Amino acid sequence: MSHVVRRFKELNLKLLSKKEIVGAHAGKIYKVEALRESENAILRYIYKEFAHGRNKEVEIHMDLADRVKPFSRVVNVWDGPPQAMLMWDLGSPVKEGFYALSAEEKKVMIGDVLTRLALLHNMSPSQDKLPIHRVSSEWRDWCLDQLRRLSSRKSWALPGWEKTILEAYEQLNIPYYQTKCPAVITHGDPHLENVFYKDDEIWFIDWEWAAMGSPLRDVTILMQDLYDNDLVSFVPAFYRECLRERGIDLTDDDFWSDWGYLYIDHLTMMLAWEVEKYFQGYASDEEIQKIIDWKIGEIERVTEMLETKGWK
Ligand SMILES: Nc1ncnc2c1ncn2[C@@H]1O[C@H](COP(=O)(O)OP(=O)(O)O)[C@@H](O)[C@H]1O
Ligand SMILES: [Mg+2]
Repeated sequence: MSHVVRRFKELNLKLLSKKEIVGAHAGKIYKVEALRESENAILRYIYKEFAHGRNKEVEIHMDLADRVKPFSRVVNVWDGPPQAMLMWDLGSPVKEGFYALSAEEKKVMIGDVLTRLALLHNMSPSQDKLPIHRVSSEWRDWCLDQLRRLSSRKSWALPGWEKTILEAYEQLNIPYYQTKCPAVITHGDPHLENVFYKDDEIWFIDWEWAAMGSPLRDVTILMQDLYDNDLVSFVPAFYRECLRERGIDLTDDDFWSDWGYLYIDHLTMMLAWEVEKYFQGYASDEEIQKIIDWKIGEIERVTEMLETKGWK
């Protein structure tokens, strides 16, 4: 009997089918159908087995179950080899179909995600169980490597892209930035492939990067996936209002400094990741060029904004 069949049996489930979800994942992810004989019901799950060294999520679900459970739909976690977790199948990520929504529909969806993030950020902290998020030179270095790889292979890659990244990090001294807002529990990776809308509620998957950090950490990771200038300006104002409603009033300087620095760092991080997905065959030349153009444009816009407004 395979270990998966046995694991399901222990949960009183009979495994009916198991199909791998292909993609650039840190581990193996399967869509699973199982029968709960007592109810004669067929149930749909996602079974995720972790790659070696990419298993932080297991610890987070075990150590912080009370904080994370209201925001995810985890059914079971296995700490023994192979480490794995079982979740309800939440359907398709918000990213699927998002860009085809009307401006108003996008606002409603992103507003719901921000409301949910503000709730997570307002949970009592867990200083001892979570790492502390710090800005460093990691994403700059990775992104520059990826852009150099791209330049060596593709004639359409522009040298100006590397220059934008280098100058932003240097002018603003980003690797040494210390966030100013009080640290909260952050999900750490809420781009739109890790966010789901199901049963009238927003859910987050993929908690591997959860850490104590500025609330703007999550907000800016979400923003770098929007590709829509109106929506980008809607996000910080809406999120700040969510915090105010919860009695949290941040100063302009703390809020906008964290917003700007973390937005640039996360645009850079995800630019590197999007190039990686392109190398792995998950994006066309045209798609990656649009992605890079928009992200580089945002990095330039925000670098200038932080300089002019003195939010440093
Ligand atoms: N609970 C779930 N419901 C539906 N799809 C899921 C679920 N968990 C994962 N997936 C699918 O698998 C993809 C990768 O899962 P994720 O946990 O984010 O792994 P990775 O660390 O590789 O990003 C998601 O973007 C989504 O398409
Ligand atoms: Mg993911």
